[in-house]
This record gives sequence, structure tokens and C-alpha cells, in this order.
Amino acid sequence: MTHDARRIPPGPRGHWLLGHLPERRADPLGFFVRGRERYGDVVRYRMGPFQVYQVSHPDDVKRILVDNAQNYWKTRLMQRLRPILGNGLLLSEGDFWKRQRRLAQPAFHRERMAGLATAITGLVESALQRWGPLAETGQPFDLAAELTRLTLSITGRVLFSTDLSDSSDEVGHAVAVAIEESNRRALATLPLPVSLPLPSHRRLQSAIRVLDRVVFGIIDQRRRGASRADDLLSLLMETRDADTGESMSDSQLRDEVMTLMLAGHETTANALAWTFHLLQQHPEAEERLAHEVVSVLGDRMPSLQDLPRLRYTARVFDEAMRLYPPAWIFSRTALAEDELGGYTIPKGSLVAAVPYVIHRHPALWEHPESFDPDRFLPERSGSRPRFAWLPFGGGQRLCIGNGLALMEGQLVLAMVARRYRFRPVPGHPVEPQALVTLRPRYGLRVTASRIAMPPEALGRSAVLGTKG
Ligand code: HEM
Repeated sequence: MTHDARRIPPGPRGHWLLGHLPERRADPLGFFVRGRERYGDVVRYRMGPFQVYQVSHPDDVKRILVDNAQNYWKTRLMQRLRPILGNGLLLSEGDFWKRQRRLAQPAFHRERMAGLATAITGLVESALQRWGPLAETGQPFDLAAELTRLTLSITGRVLFSTDLSDSSDEVGHAVAVAIEESNRRALATLPLPVSLPLPSHRRLQSAIRVLDRVVFGIIDQRRRGASRADDLLSLLMETRDADTGESMSDSQLRDEVMTLMLAGHETTANALAWTFHLLQQHPEAEERLAHEVVSVLGDRMPSLQDLPRLRYTARVFDEAMRLYPPAWIFSRTALAEDELGGYTIPKGSLVAAVPYVIHRHPALWEHPESFDPDRFLPERSGSRPRFAWLPFGGGQRLCIGNGLALMEGQLVLAMVARRYRFRPVPGHPVEPQALVTLRPRYGLRVTASRIAMPPEALGRSAVLGTKG
């Protein structure tokens, strides 16, 4: 392309030195929402030394994630998490990433998930029992924290058959520190090398040491044949590259396990927290969900086979992730110059897709601000572009855990919906906080009450029709 042919996208003027960093930092969601509203589907900003391009048209997102994906690599911003995640799937690139993805993929195949579903329902049942006394006494509690505890226990079980959920336990504490420090590093203006002896770096390093000890310990036990388990770690250890016959080294296994552990549980916990928040605000949807669950399951534990019939439950979860996508932004670096939406994207610039904005784009969604799970009915979603809804990203870097997350979401919602109703504690503020993930800033203070199951539902699971 000649210099004259370059078209520069519109964008706001920023501070001469910091560019738009102060506004982005003060109100990240509002900043990107207003950017699209004022300037359109490709907006140019300056964030300190970086040129950043926000893209909101599904065709442009498709170009980044699919059609010209080889031109877009994970950004240096993401690489700040490398001290924690190492060279695991989230951060690796090129041929190395391709090989690792090929090795890990079979561990996430649907047939593997059937065994995991039973483990998950067991852990959900334990959480339901733990909440029993809270429901009996009407004592308020933080549902978001409880859901994080639940998804961490599920992740630990599914990954390496270990319970990570007790935060008084040093492993649970180490995971919490790793998440907190990931957020701090990802958002810092100037991230310092973790080798600098600052208190936060010491905390992080001691957390990493705990996690390394646990993960390497389990790998070592398995290598020596002392134990074998039905979990993802075993599958990752057994898997062989189809072409070379190679398996993963211990340090690569460690990086993959750490990545799965951190990428897997907080995202799912946030998706569930927002779902329950929305259900509390929409009692008719809450009622319909409970009706579907009782109709399909009666009082039986759900299994993988039940999930296709829990259709409304799935739509509720999809709609909650539309309004509050846990991975609310993701970004890439352009390796070479490209063109998006008719504008020139210079080599080396940063391109950001913001699901939070795309999911509320008025050209893509009717009444985008309203909670309407039925917008995901096949007859209402057939003409929607593929990248109008992208809570799990897309293309070759599509979230490897998306099937697991959707299964987990449906199972948790179904099991909770027929046991408890949550009500917000009056006066407690609920607002999104956009860190690496989108979470409720002050948690979700609720009270729980137990639902009496209609006697006709018991033992007649297949008989009652659903509004599905
Ligand atoms: C609701 C829950 C989840 C959401 C919203 C979510 C979202 C995402 C998104 C948007 C990406 C792509 C990021 C990018 O392209 O830059 C991603 C990648 C990834 N996710 Fe998830 N995720 C969830 C659950 C999980 C679970 C349960 C696991 C594993 C146990 C997991 C493991 C990963 C990994 C390893 C990657 C990197 C894949 C690669 O690049 O090859 N995620 N996730």
C-alpha cells in the first residue's frame, strides 16, 4: 500500500504524553463503549507509547481471529503474565503453541467430559449442602466468593484430582495471590521484573513456589506410577504427538496446568456470578429456569446426557455472558500492516476486540441492554454474524475450555435453581469491575432461601413438558 492510500481511523485526542491511558484506567468499560458510539467500528487511540485500534465489526474480528490470524500475535501486555503462566497455551505462539494445542486438545474432547460431569455434580452438591445453614438462618453471604470457591474446587478436581478450594489452605491462598498479582501486573503502567525485591513480588514468588511444589509433586507421583487418575493431568501426560510420538516435558506440563488452573476457574465463577445477578433481577426467567430443570430432572442428579434438554438453562448462561463477558477484552499485535474496516492498521500496533462492546452493539442486537435469553433461540439467532457473540474468542485460539465451561455452567445453574433462590441484600452495590476478567467489584451479597420442590415433580422427570 502506498503512503497516500493510508486511511487513518478516527479517534479522540488524548493527553500529549499518556494518550488515553488515564480515561481507560478510570472507566475501562465506559471508555470503549463511548469510543465505538462516537467514532464507529474502528477507533484509534494512543495508550502511552502504543497505538491501539478498537475493532467492533464482526467482519474485522473475523479477519483478526480467522482470515488473517497468522498476522496477529498475543500482545506484550499479555506477556506480563509470563512469570506466572510460563509458556502455557494462553501465552505461547507460533509452531510451539500449535504443537501444544494439538497435544492438549484430546483432553477436552466431549467423550472425556462425561466422567468429569459426575465429579462436577458431586462438588456442586457439597456446595449446596454448605449453603444450607445460611439459607436456614437467612444470613447474608458473598455469592461471588462462594462461586469462586466452587469453580476452584471443580478446576482442581478436573485438572489433577486435588481440592484447591479451601482458601485457608496454602494452595487455595496461593491461587488467590496469583490471580490478584496477575490483575495488578496486567494493568500496571510500568510492570517491573518480578526479580525486584518488592513486597508484592515476594508474595507472588512465594505463591508460585507453593503452586510449583504441588504441581511438580503430583507430576512426579504420576511419573513414578504411584497414582493414576481420571483427570486432565493424566490425559496431558499420556498424550503423544501424532507425528513425532513426543510427550510433554515436566516443565511444559507445569506451565499448561498453571494456565488451565488460572484461566479456567475465575472466568467461570464470574460468568456464574453475573448469571445469578441477572436472574435475581428477572424473577420470570428464574421461574422458567427452575420449571425446566424440575421438568427435565425431577430430583435426580443431572448428567451429560441431560444437557441438550436443559435448553433454556443454556440460553440463560449464554445471555449472561453476552451482557457480562468474563473475558471482556482481548488484544493482539499486528505483525505486518493490515487493513480493517477500510482503514490502515500499521505494523506493530495493538488491536483490541472488546466483547463487552460488541455484545451491546445496536447494529447486531435488538434492545442490547435488555436481558432476553430467547434471543439465542435458533430461529432468532440464525442470521447473526458468527463474531457478534464471542465470550470464548474464536478461530484457532478459541478457548480450549469452552465446552467444559458451558457444561459446568449448565450443571451449576440446574442444580442451584431447584434448591435455592438468592435475593440481593438491599443497599449492596453491584457494579462491574473490568480487570483481566469482568467481576462484580464488591462481590454479590445475597440471602438464600430454600425452594420446596413440587411433589408432582419428584420421580416424574420425563413426564412434565418444558417450555424449552
Ligand atoms: C466462562 C468461562 C470462560 C471464558 C469466558 C473463557 C474465555 C476465553 C477467551 C476469550 C479465550 C481467548 C483469548 C484470546 O484469544 O486472546 C480463552 C482462551 C483460553 N482458555 Fe478460556 N474461558 C473460560 C473457561 C476456561 C476453562 C474452564 C479453561 C480450562 C480448564 C480455559 C482455558 C483456556 C486456555 C488454555 C486458553 C488459551 C487457548 C489457546 O490460545 O490455545 N478457559 N478463554
